[in-house]
Amino acid sequence: MFKALLLENSNDVVSASVRQLDESALPSGNVTVAVEYSTVNYKDGLIVNGLGGLVKKYPHVPGIDFSGTVTESRHPGFKPRDKVVLTGWRVGETQWGGLAQKAVVNGDWLVPLPAGISTREAMAIGTAGFTAMLAVMALEAHGVNPGSGEVLVTGAAGGVGSVATAILARRGYQVIASSGRADAHEYLKGLGASSVVDRSPFSEPAKRPLEAERWAGCVDSVGGNTLARVLAQMRGKDPDSWNDVRAQLPLLAQEQWYSRVKRGYARGWEPARFVEQVHQYLAVLEWTGTGTVARVHAPAALALAPSAAEARGFN
Ligand SMILES: NC(=O)c1ccc[n+]([C@@H]2O[C@H](COP(=O)([O-])OP(=O)(O)OC[C@H]3O[C@@H](n4cnc5c(N)ncnc54)[C@H](OP(=O)(O)O)[C@@H]3O)[C@@H](O)[C@H]2O)c1
Repeated sequence: MFKALLLENSNDVVSASVRQLDESALPSGNVTVAVEYSTVNYKDGLIVNGLGGLVKKYPHVPGIDFSGTVTESRHPGFKPRDKVVLTGWRVGETQWGGLAQKAVVNGDWLVPLPAGISTREAMAIGTAGFTAMLAVMALEAHGVNPGSGEVLVTGAAGGVGSVATAILARRGYQVIASSGRADAHEYLKGLGASSVVDRSPFSEPAKRPLEAERWAGCVDSVGGNTLARVLAQMRGKDPDSWNDVRAQLPLLAQEQWYSRVKRGYARGWEPARFVEQVHQYLAVLEWTGTGTVARVHAPAALALAPSAAEARGFN
């Protein structure tokens, strides 16, 4: 027998209680883990309250991550007494999760606990901390470094934002933490934020695709208007300059950019090439002395400017 937080659904009302379960209730899988720690993530909050439609089958054990010790294994990568960590793979959503004393999972989803870290510390970092580290690594993979300038963290007092603030500060970044919680300012400064700003100016719709360039990078855990405004403050390009627009358009074919815009992927290099051809045509007409073509030039460039604005998430 083992204890678990069990969710049951009766007439679309989800209730949670700590229950003693028999091992035969566990799902199938090739590794059994004696769970030592799990976290309470925002997704767990949704699931325990029956929100988000994430769980399709009840009874259900939530817990999107856990750390613990292998007790049985039919997986070549793990043996009893191995210390392991799991996060993701929709464990705790479509599979029974870590808010229990035992979990049975597919061994491919497990990661050996790294040396020098305890199972408790692994879950103190948790999935939110892991996500924050991935965000910092992504910034650095795109060339941001502590000398680049101020890095903004939005939703800074939240799970992802607070760990991102701490990691960035520890790595020497100048971190500006944006938060709606006045009582969290001291906490965020304690994590290493150089300054804390109120989140409300970021929540308003961006009025322009281009604002004064301020941020070298941003870990944004809010999205929506906040993301649009931050992007407008990051790229520092002029949507009315063809040279700037031409350089931005091909970005619409890169997932990093098209995943953030309303209409998604676009072969942005094609309109760039088209306008170049218009410019060449203009040059030929000017060379041959035809007089009226200046008007062709301006509308072609202006028509493309809104697409570039969308590439900055301004939609
Ligand atoms: N946690 C994870 O493991 C994980 C993993 C992958 C992706 N994510 C994504 O990361 C995002 C943040 O997750 P989280 O776990 O950090 O959530 P969280 O702990 O709830 O933090 C979100 C923060 O966003 C700010 N916020 C909330 N409502 C807002 C509003 N209306 N306008 C502006 N700011 C608002 C708040 O920060 P302040 O109180 O400081 O204002 C809040 O603390 C979510 O989109 C989530 O899907 C999370």
